[in-house]
Amino acid sequence: MKRVLVIPGDGIGREIVPATCGLIERAADRHGLRLSFETRDAGAQAFLDSGMSITPQTRKLAAEADAILLGAIGLPDVRRADGTEIADEVVLDLRTDLDLFANVRPVRSWPRVAGPLNRQDIDYTVVRENTEGLYLSHTGGVVLGKELVADTMIITRKGTERVVRHAFEIASASNGRPLDGKRAVTCVDKANTLKGYVLFRSVFEDVASEFPDIVAECEHADAMTVRMVRRPESLNVLVCENMIGDILSDLAAATVGGLGLAPSANIGHRHGLFEPVHGSAPDIAGRGIANPLATILSGAMMLDWFGRRDPAALRAASSLRDAVETILKDGVLTADLGGQASLADVIAAIEEQLR
Ligand code: NAD
Ligand code: IPM
Ligand code: MN
Repeated sequence: MKRVLVIPGDGIGREIVPATCGLIERAADRHGLRLSFETRDAGAQAFLDSGMSITPQTRKLAAEADAILLGAIGLPDVRRADGTEIADEVVLDLRTDLDLFANVRPVRSWPRVAGPLNRQDIDYTVVRENTEGLYLSHTGGVVLGKELVADTMIITRKGTERVVRHAFEIASASNGRPLDGKRAVTCVDKANTLKGYVLFRSVFEDVASEFPDIVAECEHADAMTVRMVRRPESLNVLVCENMIGDILSDLAAATVGGLGLAPSANIGHRHGLFEPVHGSAPDIAGRGIANPLATILSGAMMLDWFGRRDPAALRAASSLRDAVETILKDGVLTADLGGQASLADVIAAIEEQLR
């Protein structure tokens, strides 16, 4: 029995996550894997309701659970006196508290979803460093009234080494880049401008020497945005600092159909937290039209992660992904993908596939 802490969070997370849990449970059940879900409130709405974005009990539960499934945290109008949102208290703090150092964000073409590039040969993974970089500064930094702010970027050898190694391990197990089947890891940085990125790149080169069969290359982040649009078939695995990965992964999602299809896994040596790349989408929340596939695919990544020790979980993960592929082929598309299906239509179609 695996215990999953479920945090629907805010906005569309509250609509999508409860329905998604039912699908994950069905897929797991069919392959003989028992899951138990415990749901807790956290996020901006919880902060408005109770004065706390996440309680100490929920943090404790997160540390004890076998995995965490999260919807989305944050509402643009719920802010602290310093102007920042409270999303970081839940999302960024769980990542650091649980030492979830690798944020793994797969990017792939799906049938019937043309995306703005209209390609079917995109298949790579963005690995985002998840516990340091520029965002570690969210609890610190220097503020001098309304005149000066310094947010410091933290890069350490140890933090870089472990995430880069994780990226090479993902490449080892992958089919390589669609262009020629070669396995490759691309370090994406701004080593032309900042010393932190110079360290990141030099640690990347050290770790790369342990993997002589894998192509290792470096690209500046600005140039990478062009390559992601012009030559995405040349990419296999990207590894980057926290904020670069945050920005690139939304762009990557756009090239294959949008945020509604972009899942992620936040992985550490002990804990795993699974969530869509997108946020609470306040512009469409409450209308029953949000695309649940990013969250469902995040659930599949959770099952894959359980699959390290339990092959039944791997089969359950595949059945969820197959169901997503089939309903897309059948043209069950929400508005963000150019269709008219509602959130409930997509859930029902996946349920049907899992039967
Ligand atoms: P967002 O991802 O919520 O929305 C960006 C755009 O994509 C919107 O037009 C939205 O309608 C659309 N979109 C996103 N997910 C969709 C889905 N599943 N189906 C259909 N359309 C979808 O980003 P934002 O507007 O920058 O942020 C809104 C709030 O969410 C903010 O408070 C932000 O801090 C928070 N946020 C949280 C997370 C997280 O919890 N990990 C991630 C990103 C943003
Ligand atoms: C993401 C989000 C978060 C981040 C926010 C909500 C703190 O944008 O998961 O990509 O910046 O990492
Ligand atoms: Mn983001």
